[in-house]
Amino acid sequence: MALLVLVAALVLNTALHAAAQPADFLSIDCGLEANYSGYKDADTGIAYVSDEPYVDSGENHRIAADQESRWGDTNLRTLRSFPSGVRNCYALPTRAGTRYLVRLSFVHGNYDGSNADAGGGGGVGGGGWSTLSFDLYLGVDRWATVDKDYAHEAVFVAWASWAPVCLINTGSGTPFVSVVELRPLDDALYPSVMANQSMARYVRCSIGDNKEFITRYPGDQYDRFWWQLGYSSPTWKNLSTVSAITQDSIYTVPLTIIQTAVEAVGNNTMLNITWQDQTPRGRGLKFFMYFADFQNSQLRQFNVSFNDVEPYQYSPPYLTTGVLYNSGWSIATDGNYNISLVPTAASKLPPMINALEIYTLISHDNPTTFPVDFETIMAIKLEYGIKKNWMGDPCFPVKFAWEGVKCSNSSSNTARIISFFNSDGNMCNKPIIVPSPPGKRSNRAATLAILIVVPATLIVVLVLVFLIRRQQRKSNYSTEDPPRDQSELENALQTRQNHGDVLQIVENRQFTYSELEKVTNKFERHIGQGGFGPVYFGCLEDNTKVAVKMRSELSSHGLDEFFAEVQSLTKVHHRNLVSLIGYCWEKDHLALVYEYMDQGSICDRLRGNNGASETLNWRTRVRVMVEAAQGLDYLHKGCSLPIIHRDVKTSNILLGQNLQAKIADFGLSKTYLSETQTHISVTPAGTAGYIDPEYYQTSRLTESSDVYSFGIVLLEIATGEPPIISGQGHIIQRVKNKIVAGNISLIADARLDGAYEVSSMWKVVDTALQCTVDVVAQRPSMATVVAQLKESLALEESREDSGFMGSTSTVSDNTFSTSGFGPSAR
Ligand SMILES: *[C@@H]1O[C@H](CO)[C@@H](O)[C@H](O)[C@H]1NC(C)=O
Ligand SMILES: *[C@@H]1O[C@H](CO)[C@@H](O)[C@H](O)[C@H]1NC(C)=O
Ligand SMILES: *[C@@H]1O[C@H](CO)[C@@H](O)[C@H](O)[C@H]1NC(C)=O
Ligand SMILES: *[C@@H]1O[C@H](CO)[C@@H](O)[C@H](O)[C@H]1NC(C)=O
Ligand SMILES: *[C@@H]1O[C@H](CO)[C@@H](O)[C@H](O)[C@H]1NC(C)=O
Ligand SMILES: *[C@@H]1O[C@H](CO)[C@@H](O)[C@H](O)[C@H]1NC(C)=O
Ligand SMILES: *[C@@H]1O[C@H](CO)[C@@H](O)[C@H](O)[C@H]1NC(C)=O
Ligand SMILES: *[C@@H]1O[C@H](CO)[C@@H](O)[C@H](O)[C@H]1NC(C)=O
Repeated sequence: MALLVLVAALVLNTALHAAAQPADFLSIDCGLEANYSGYKDADTGIAYVSDEPYVDSGENHRIAADQESRWGDTNLRTLRSFPSGVRNCYALPTRAGTRYLVRLSFVHGNYDGSNADAGGGGGVGGGGWSTLSFDLYLGVDRWATVDKDYAHEAVFVAWASWAPVCLINTGSGTPFVSVVELRPLDDALYPSVMANQSMARYVRCSIGDNKEFITRYPGDQYDRFWWQLGYSSPTWKNLSTVSAITQDSIYTVPLTIIQTAVEAVGNNTMLNITWQDQTPRGRGLKFFMYFADFQNSQLRQFNVSFNDVEPYQYSPPYLTTGVLYNSGWSIATDGNYNISLVPTAASKLPPMINALEIYTLISHDNPTTFPVDFETIMAIKLEYGIKKNWMGDPCFPVKFAWEGVKCSNSSSNTARIISFFNSDGNMCNKPIIVPSPPGKRSNRAATLAILIVVPATLIVVLVLVFLIRRQQRKSNYSTEDPPRDQSELENALQTRQNHGDVLQIVENRQFTYSELEKVTNKFERHIGQGGFGPVYFGCLEDNTKVAVKMRSELSSHGLDEFFAEVQSLTKVHHRNLVSLIGYCWEKDHLALVYEYMDQGSICDRLRGNNGASETLNWRTRVRVMVEAAQGLDYLHKGCSLPIIHRDVKTSNILLGQNLQAKIADFGLSKTYLSETQTHISVTPAGTAGYIDPEYYQTSRLTESSDVYSFGIVLLEIATGEPPIISGQGHIIQRVKNKIVAGNISLIADARLDGAYEVSSMWKVVDTALQCTVDVVAQRPSMATVVAQLKESLALEESREDSGFMGSTSTVSDNTFSTSGFGPSAR
């Protein structure tokens, strides 16, 4: 026999509802276009976002037009359906150990014209939900069957940084979902929910004459849905008060709900709530009853019992919320449920009740993947943009185990991931593909598999293999003789480092928001404005200087750009690409932490912004362009699928120590999805003056659009002028107009004071004009651009070398040109 537990409501102040929704609410409007940045719900003030970042599969749909008026809530008008695959999951970001409420809402709205619509039905707007049936799983555990239901809710304790919520096709219709919502709960609320057991909401209702059909946030601080009890008995009387009611700060009930109640009619009469339901039969039930008396003149005392739970003698507190719940889980094997409030002999007034919650137990007795392994493989999935069937728990249930992921079956209930391989090779650096020796291609899978014993080593292993592969590409290793063991891998890495080709082993660090506050000294030094928000200077514990790029809420760029940037940056590591040190992802706080480039951007240097006074000399300019071109070439060709930067401009080429150039800001970058794809169709984006007209007109994005933008950058480097000068037109036209005169000094930046090798300058201008021709097919590849710029650099270097030989004094005079090299330096 379970015991009733009383939660004393001794906390004095009534919870005050904040005007804005709590920052840690995650509210997903399924089926919303990914390019739609979200909206605030007019009634609740809750901000809804697209589900694109949280799910890999499914199709977007809208409910039928004639159903829209029925569903006032914008978030119910779109949905995502899952016609393929048996299990499809959302991965919701969580904090391990935190207790959450998760809710999925379902409005079919005849979205597919199948008329699989329940029609009438009681409640919300009358119908709209489906006659279909499918299952919901919380991780690996069965949560509910969706069957003409509007919303399902569960309370759980997060076991990892991700909580998978899965829809399972049980053969009775295509699963779909309209809204997914995640709400963190107070740690002290619902203590029976633990890591090993969750619970599903079975009933949550207000009892009495409460006007609202559903009460939620801001009435409920946790945004639980409270329904009006759709039942009234002739032996009940409605009670209500307008007085303030003191609530426990944790066990709060919406005020409008606790201010109404029912009581039995007549003294000495009992109050029963009974029903029959086969659904939760055999499952443990937990109830929470909420009471607040509106009078204190007479004794109201009654015995509370629920099914098999021992009666508990209780007297509701005056204008204060009292909560009763059973400490264990009550089981009704016959499907009959029975709440009875029986007045005691001493009671002067009949029993009363204000609100009720009942939950069913979701026990976690299925095996799961070890949380750290799960988080690691999720990190890899995100970093490499792996989609496939990588959804839900990686190892369980076995029939849905992730493709290519091998799990141990240890005796305990948590499996370790022991290896995985990636067979589709669609990721940028195909991190784990070791080329097979010739003649053994058929046995590819075997060579793809890499043993990963301890997850923490996993990323390092990936990077090692990546290094090896690149090494092989550069023919330093023969493909007939791939390195086979760890020591060879290490040797290869060593060799590589000795060659000074800096490829960093990046294990991106995850920062908390408070760590970022510390790192940036409370965002003290604003150093710029990035694509999706402000950039701040920071300093890590080891004194590494960093640039912290925050995503501002006002940013026109959404989550997509954030993920594009994270994905591009984690996929590519090159000495001429700004490297990502870590990121912060705490619901509303998104930030990227980069290496700090202390010499500013090329743009600053050319325009003399931000205190950059010294003009770069020609040799430095060309060298910097060679480096930037190499970075871009790596993006286009260094990866198995091209990455297109989309926003190449002088302010995105940054200078670090020794004026080494690195390309930054991958917020708009796009990756091809397959090897056969010839272009990507997107809405043109970028910066005025740099956008390829072909791309602008056709929305067909290819690498040549970056080549075009790079051509504009080259013209700026040569002329020192911005792309567009109002009244004088675009830089291409300005340069072309001057070129006819045949005198390079009319084009070259006057601040160089003639200190450049003429043929070097010509070569840069000529390359720039090739890059910017209208006919896309005639533009050079970045590899060609690199080669031409290297020639230009060699020409300039030979001039300088000669200059040094000729006269060092002319150097100090800054009168290179007078030393007479080059036919028409002046
Ligand atoms: C979003 O993309 C769709 C096409 O996928 C387009 O029809 C729509 O206009 C876009 N919306 C916005 C706000 O850009
Ligand atoms: C009490 O309120 C409920 C809900 O509004 C209503 O259905 C019921 O008829 C009321 N009962 C009485 C006795 O007024
Ligand atoms: C209930 O008892 C109280 C006091 O004992 C009395 O004043 C009241 O009239 C009774 N109510 C009914 C409905 O009998
Ligand atoms: C309440 O339930 C008990 C036991 O099942 C029954 O004897 C009694 O008549 C019920 N009372 C009302 C008011 O329904
Ligand atoms: C209701 O609960 C009481 C115990 O409190 C029990 O005696 C009675 O049989 C139950 N009635 C139903 C209908 O389950
Ligand atoms: C109420 O429950 C107590 C035990 O908690 C019991 O002693 C008492 O007899 C019960 N009274 C009624 C009226 O059921
Ligand atoms: C969960 O663990 C608690 C103790 O930590 C235990 O009392 C409870 O029975 C367990 N629940 C299940 C469903 O195993
Ligand atoms: C692991 O489980 C699979 C299937 O569940 C079984 O075939 C295999 O023998 C098990 N391996 C070990 C080492 O227990």
